[in-house]
Amino acid sequence: MASALPIDAIQPPAELAATPRRRGTLLIVDDEDGPRQSLRVIFKDDYEILLASDGVTAVELAQDNAIDVAVVDIRMAGMSGIEVLERLKYVAPDIEVVMMTAFETTDTMRQALRLRACDYINKPFDVGTMRAAVATAMQRHTLESEIHTNAEKLQDLLGELQNQKIEEQMSQTRGEIYASIIHDINGPLTVISGFIQLMNQRISNATRLEVEDVDFVKDRLKTITRQVTNCIEISRRYLGFLRRQTDAAPRIGINQLLTDLGHLVQVHPSRLHHTFAIQPIATDVAARMNGTDVIQVLLNLSVNAFQCSSQTHAVEINGRVLPEPLDLTIFKDGPEQRLLNVENFENTAPLLMVAVCDTGPGIPPEILPKIFQPYFTTKGERHGTGLGLNIVQRLIKEAKGALHVNTRPGQGTTFTVYLPAVPLATAS
Ligand SMILES: Nc1ncnc2c1ncn2[C@@H]1O[C@H](COP(=O)(O)OP(=O)(O)OP(=O)(O)O)[C@@H](O)[C@H]1O
Ligand SMILES: [Mg+2]
Repeated sequence: MASALPIDAIQPPAELAATPRRRGTLLIVDDEDGPRQSLRVIFKDDYEILLASDGVTAVELAQDNAIDVAVVDIRMAGMSGIEVLERLKYVAPDIEVVMMTAFETTDTMRQALRLRACDYINKPFDVGTMRAAVATAMQRHTLESEIHTNAEKLQDLLGELQNQKIEEQMSQTRGEIYASIIHDINGPLTVISGFIQLMNQRISNATRLEVEDVDFVKDRLKTITRQVTNCIEISRRYLGFLRRQTDAAPRIGINQLLTDLGHLVQVHPSRLHHTFAIQPIATDVAARMNGTDVIQVLLNLSVNAFQCSSQTHAVEINGRVLPEPLDLTIFKDGPEQRLLNVENFENTAPLLMVAVCDTGPGIPPEILPKIFQPYFTTKGERHGTGLGLNIVQRLIKEAKGALHVNTRPGQGTTFTVYLPAVPLATAS
């Protein structure tokens, strides 16, 4: 019978075979010297033996030694076998306990099993049965500790997997940030290269510069300098994202930002023959968003508004300060409108509302749900990366703002940005 084999005969799993296994330790608990000694003789060649003549000693031994199996007599003076079982399981939950019984009631036996005794053997015991019971208990103990170790290994593995997932997500975010930097820097770079070309045309063949030429160059250089500053600001912002820093730049009034935006838009190649107007905002406030980010958001929306059709159309930026929180119940996502970032929106007054409206062809209902997805573009690979609106949405989300799009096929589109604001006097 397999269970009667001595513990050394049990085949260890491959990964444990390399390290020599320690002999199992057997605790014998009986208040009568006779049975205690005969059990010692039976098992001394197979296991390390510890002897206890009462419950207190047994529990102390279990606290100080790594015991695999205990054989406990139920009927003992002082602490009963059931109590010893309970305490042994308390100090060493993995210990397997074989109970020795004489004339116990089935209730006592049930209690022993409920307390997770592994087996019980009638006294006086038969040596073969006792050997088999202890060997089975030893085997069970080995298996349980293996399961325990494996569960721990599994837990470690799961932890590692989780870390790996987080790493993957981080590098994905990093990839997105790099793509965003390239997208955002592309705008100012287009302006810079256009202006350098203009200056080249004007002065490359001149042998001396007239006053008007110098003024022309000076004026273009100013714009170029502004654009270079923009590029630096953009890379600084994204590097901040990568290092998870928040930008503590001083707040600038929205009207100043709109004026700066106006300069950028006027010279942007997408402006072409379309009409463009910016209406100043009656109450000047500062958005709770980095100034470069506000310009970046509105510039992206304006460029989209120009690019939506080559047919001449109008683009206008206007806005106002809302003294009350937004009534979100009036917004219903549908084929002509969508509200984004509602979950994260800090809907507390005052709110700055800025709208970029165009009289272009509108956005078809089947396209509307996709326009904020990264890399979605209808402009063809050479003309659009499809990152613009995704960046706009992410910047607004970071600032705890909301973004609404309303479109009518054939009539035009309005993107409205809602941002938490602070009155200018207290803006910091
Ligand atoms: N004002 C608008 N009118 C009509 N369609 C628009 C408008 N704004 C955005 N879209 C649609 O949304 C799509 C996604 O815009 P998004 O700014 O994300 O990328 P893109 O403009 O195509 O590329 P990129 O921003 O890199 O130049 C556009 O390709 C266009 O189809
Ligand atoms: Mg775009």
